[in-house]
Amino acid sequence: MTRKLYIETVGCQMNMLDSELVVADLRRRGYELVDEPGPADLVLFNTCSVRAHAEEKIYSALGRLKNAKQRNPDKIIGVIGCMAQNHQKNVFTRAPYVDLVVGPGQLHQIPNLVDEIAAGGGQKLEVSLDRTGGAKRDVAESFESYDPLRDEAMRPSRYQAFVRIMIGCDKFCTYCIVPKVRGPEQSRPPEQIVAEARKLADEGCREVTLLGQTVNSYKYENGERTTRLSDLLHQLSEIEGLTRLKFVTSFPNDMTQDLLEAVRDVKKCSHYLHVPCQSGSNEVLKRMKRNYTVEQYREMHDRIRATIPGAAVTSDFIVGFCGETEEDFQKTVALVEEMRFKNSFIFKYSPREGTKADDLYPDDIPDDVKKRRNNELLAVQNRISYEDNQPFIGRTVEILVEGPSERARRHEEHAHGDDQPEAGAEHAHGDVHGPIQLVGRTNCDRIVVFDGNPRQIGQMLPVTIYDANSFTLFGEVVTQHVGPQLVTISI
Ligand code: 5AD
Ligand code: SF4
Repeated sequence: MTRKLYIETVGCQMNMLDSELVVADLRRRGYELVDEPGPADLVLFNTCSVRAHAEEKIYSALGRLKNAKQRNPDKIIGVIGCMAQNHQKNVFTRAPYVDLVVGPGQLHQIPNLVDEIAAGGGQKLEVSLDRTGGAKRDVAESFESYDPLRDEAMRPSRYQAFVRIMIGCDKFCTYCIVPKVRGPEQSRPPEQIVAEARKLADEGCREVTLLGQTVNSYKYENGERTTRLSDLLHQLSEIEGLTRLKFVTSFPNDMTQDLLEAVRDVKKCSHYLHVPCQSGSNEVLKRMKRNYTVEQYREMHDRIRATIPGAAVTSDFIVGFCGETEEDFQKTVALVEEMRFKNSFIFKYSPREGTKADDLYPDDIPDDVKKRRNNELLAVQNRISYEDNQPFIGRTVEILVEGPSERARRHEEHAHGDDQPEAGAEHAHGDVHGPIQLVGRTNCDRIVVFDGNPRQIGQMLPVTIYDANSFTLFGEVVTQHVGPQLVTISI
């Protein structure tokens, strides 16, 4: 009997990968994915705990399912991922109609737990040990890296995939819940990673993004041999079929020279580094326990610029952290002006229970001040992104074509929603011809939108840029003179 599964995912790329794998696992057990919770036999929320807002949204979504559960008590509702580990049985207290709570270190258990619930086994809770809940080794072992066999059909894109190279985090930045909910830092054996990437490439995947909370701290020791991220990049670049390698998220102190040189020398490696700085004030960085100063971040940034000219560096910032003065904030603005990041993700500080900052410092910046600082920093960053995208106009860049643009996808959904596609409606499927709006990325991770043919998805293409805003470059596929004729490449 086919059972229907609906899954909603919030949070980072790690969660997107976890959801992909959970869906693949359940599909092997006969589940079919649906895109609405209404008809689903199993509804899963893969959750994030980094900010309070993300958790509140999940409780609201659960609230909206209360009546459906009353009408159909056989419907199984599960909360999985970071919030499950963070709130544990308290999820049942706030939403008693939830059946399943499973932390990120226990995802492999989901199919069996769901079967047990369906057989009348009652509510199920599976989480890892707290970080102080046992011997170091036992805590680490209670967080299992979840990397079962992948299912090609379940990847959001045939040409792109995430590959986890490590789990957890040991940095303990004072504001951050991640070390609590994702457990101790543990690197996966390189052989496993390479084998997974090779299988993906054999299935037609072109781009692999390596994932880790502090991905550049990757280190795997096997007897005499130590493998670091730089070694891994060299190994992965040997895989035939892969055309692009990326990795996120990097920690500033671990941006070693061997890694920067690997990014420069490994031809398939994207010249893109996401290295969150968080604040431009040394006082704030100290309270955040980031373990570097602005001067040290600048030194690292200079090394990136010197080693990989033209590389795109992006950052995260938290505004309104405990005790952040206007002067501290202005130092962050000045740092953004100086570093000229390709883009920055900016967040208002959100106190998280169980973190050092929440224990030690009052959340003393009013929300309207946080909001104003957020908007001000964003405006500065957007202006810089705009300015730095302008020189691309007139240039020809090589892009990896990722798929239909947001606009083309909306158009397609609309056409499907109507059931009767209008005559001439554009589709992203191979059986439909004609130009559609596609999106790709440059080697320095800039998004390029252009009109192309669905057949071009997954290819490397030269595109000439004719316009640019803060977030997007607009291009045209390069045409080449072949003899007397004008031929458009690959269309
Ligand atoms: N409040 C606001 N932002 C946070 N981040 C992490 N913890 C918090 C918090 N408590 C941000 C950091 C991190 C990004 C993923 O989320 O900037 O780099
Ligand atoms: Fe959180 Fe800091 Fe670890 Fe990043 S490095 S996941 S911000 S504790």
